[in-house]
Amino acid sequence: MPVSDRELTQMFERVLTLSKVDKTQSVAVLKSDYSNPRIVRAAMDAAQRLGASVYGVELPAFNHPRAMGMDMTAYCGDTPLTGNLAAQRALEAADLIVDTMMLLHSPEQEQILKTGTRILLAVEPPEVLARILPTEEDKLRVNAAAERLKRARSIAVTSKAGSDFRATLGQYPTVTEYGFADEPGRWDHWPSGFLFSWPDESSAEGTLVLDVGDILLPFKTYVREKVTLEIEEGFIRRIHGGFEAEYLRDYMAYFKDPEVYGISHIGWGLQPRAQWTAMGLHDKNDGMCMDARAFYGNFLFSTGPNTEVGGSRKTPCHMDIPLRGCDILLDGEPVVLAGDVVAPEASRA
Ligand SMILES: [Fe+2]
Repeated sequence: MPVSDRELTQMFERVLTLSKVDKTQSVAVLKSDYSNPRIVRAAMDAAQRLGASVYGVELPAFNHPRAMGMDMTAYCGDTPLTGNLAAQRALEAADLIVDTMMLLHSPEQEQILKTGTRILLAVEPPEVLARILPTEEDKLRVNAAAERLKRARSIAVTSKAGSDFRATLGQYPTVTEYGFADEPGRWDHWPSGFLFSWPDESSAEGTLVLDVGDILLPFKTYVREKVTLEIEEGFIRRIHGGFEAEYLRDYMAYFKDPEVYGISHIGWGLQPRAQWTAMGLHDKNDGMCMDARAFYGNFLFSTGPNTEVGGSRKTPCHMDIPLRGCDILLDGEPVVLAGDVVAPEASRA
């Protein structure tokens, strides 16, 4: 059901307050041709109501000739900010940027964060923002899980569908997404509620079996028949199954880049207000479907780039693949069993 402009502004006031915006702060709202004007306006109005110094940065849209589809996660690396140092400096001058455009996976975003500027991405439809409005409790639960993931030196994932995957951990940091940007240099995304890290290079091994109902992003499709991914030394070596396996093989081959088969971030969902079913109620171009990434107890597996944590794999193709019904074990101890969060206790909803 539609959210009013007034409610949208009130929600922004709440999330910007969680993000420590007050009258001492400067807030830049980053937008482009395709930004949702209601979200831009609500962000500007809310920041003003909190007494912050507010300004807009508008950049012309950029379309890479090889990019397919409208989903902004479908082509990583280049953004409207690429090569525009003057605009980057204007953004770095802010305490917090509300990104309604999508800088994610760009080197410019990493450079801006290193200056201490915080970034809050908000590109989902207002009704999704409303349903998954972040809370302090979300942060406590995600951070409780992060404390466990930071200590882990191995991860194993199994499922009744046939998954049997393992990797060592420790080379790359643990990243949390709880929906607001409250620390210097923090990037976050409203809506979210999950955590992840990256396998040590060359350590991911085994098989992941996508079962009926698991999700392929950015395709925004529910798998209708099993797809098997065979993983060796950190890369997907074989993809087999029926039509969906063929589609995935063809899509990844399109990029003509062996790096697309590398394993990217892996983690699990902790957001009970995100729904596995929500994707089926939206058109594909409504947003990027954070419901699918964040829903409680999913194992979120992904492929492609690892540059945002200092890795060397820069590739435009990024698949996010949430799986249901998995067991996830850290150093042999379960955190998720059959798709339900079992530990740490403080991370459970
Ligand atoms: Fe991802």
